[in-house]
Amino acid sequence: MVIIFDRQLLLFVVVKLVFWVLIIEYPNAVKGLPQVSAMFVFGDSLADNGNNNYINSMARSNYYPYGCDYNRGPTGRFSNGKNFVDILGDLLGIVAPPPFADPSTSGARLLGGVNYASAAAGILDETGQHYGDRYPMSQQVLNFESNLSQLRNMMSGQNLTKYLSKSIAVVVFGSNDYINNYLLPSLYTSSYNYNPSQFANLLLNHYARLLVALYNVGLRRFFLAGIGALGCIPNQLATGQATPGRCVDYVNQILGFFNEGLRRLVDIMNNGGHPGAMFVYGNSYAAIGDILNNPARYGFSVWDRGCCGIGRNQGQITCLPFVTPCFNRKQYVFWDAFHPTEDVCTILAQRAYSGPPSDCYPMNVQQLALINY
Ligand SMILES: *[C@@H]1O[C@H](CO)[C@@H](O)[C@H](O)[C@H]1NC(C)=O
Ligand SMILES: *[C@@H]1O[C@H](CO)[C@@H](O)[C@H](O)[C@H]1NC(C)=O
Repeated sequence: MVIIFDRQLLLFVVVKLVFWVLIIEYPNAVKGLPQVSAMFVFGDSLADNGNNNYINSMARSNYYPYGCDYNRGPTGRFSNGKNFVDILGDLLGIVAPPPFADPSTSGARLLGGVNYASAAAGILDETGQHYGDRYPMSQQVLNFESNLSQLRNMMSGQNLTKYLSKSIAVVVFGSNDYINNYLLPSLYTSSYNYNPSQFANLLLNHYARLLVALYNVGLRRFFLAGIGALGCIPNQLATGQATPGRCVDYVNQILGFFNEGLRRLVDIMNNGGHPGAMFVYGNSYAAIGDILNNPARYGFSVWDRGCCGIGRNQGQITCLPFVTPCFNRKQYVFWDAFHPTEDVCTILAQRAYSGPPSDCYPMNVQQLALINY
């Protein structure tokens, strides 16, 4: 009896020791192994994690109170805390990649991927130009292509092919083509000639061409985020075009053409001409719509005002340096005039990662990462 007891005690101590050694030495063994080799991010301010800090742009967020709930403080993320891409990275077991424009993003730091996203940028090159410089979608693709040569120096051709095919491309574009282009016809006169359906097709033609370019240089797993309910963001509510208690329906209607087209594009890309690749559509519109229709279910009580902003709906002027943000950030859907809070980003990322096909079509990001080519 005594011997057995001692053995059990010994076993218990050994198991505990092994457990702690694993946690300390191999945090991934406990947290979950990385499910992709790298993440390459293309997008706008919903994904930017500091690129605009380095360029001549008015669209920046590297000042307090941005980052007030983030352990590294203000970084150029347009959130009180983490953004959507950070949280998606956490779920995939990887550290979300560093910003392209940061000079320290070089050498081995490229290996986990790079974030090319730029606030105010769009699918169209001219989108967001009244904010100053930005990297539009086409430039982000070129920047990725030019960095591929660095990776070629670090890996053999065969290894690079495998590495790219095990990487995920996260693409978050389209919001600015509406709020900082199509919906500002006095500043963007060339878009004025298109009706909403034609404009969505214009965007989708550019988008498809750039996706093919990324496929042609070796990326194989694509998450394409649809546009959220822009008619409900504080910036649009502040225009006074919404019936009280409602969103600007017209805005939500016109971006529906883009979202429907992007979902069709996913089918087209998956059904022909792109062997060994999978494209998935993230239904951001449905996810944010669910939150706005049922805020209490998610613990939110304020959905018609930014937590940090000035004027009507705290959305006429977005979050400026040293504006005092709301105190109860966990109750807010929107952080500033344009962007959701970290808690909303968490819900969006979870739904993209593990949601049903109504959230992420035709499969979710977890399944996308697991496909064995
Ligand atoms: C990535 O490409 C850009 C543009 O060509 C270049 O300036 C930068 O040095 C590259 N970075 C790395 C790490 O290759
Ligand atoms: C390719 O990858 C294998 C396995 O990771 C490694 O042993 C080999 O050195 C790599 N080859 C080159 C040229 O990078």
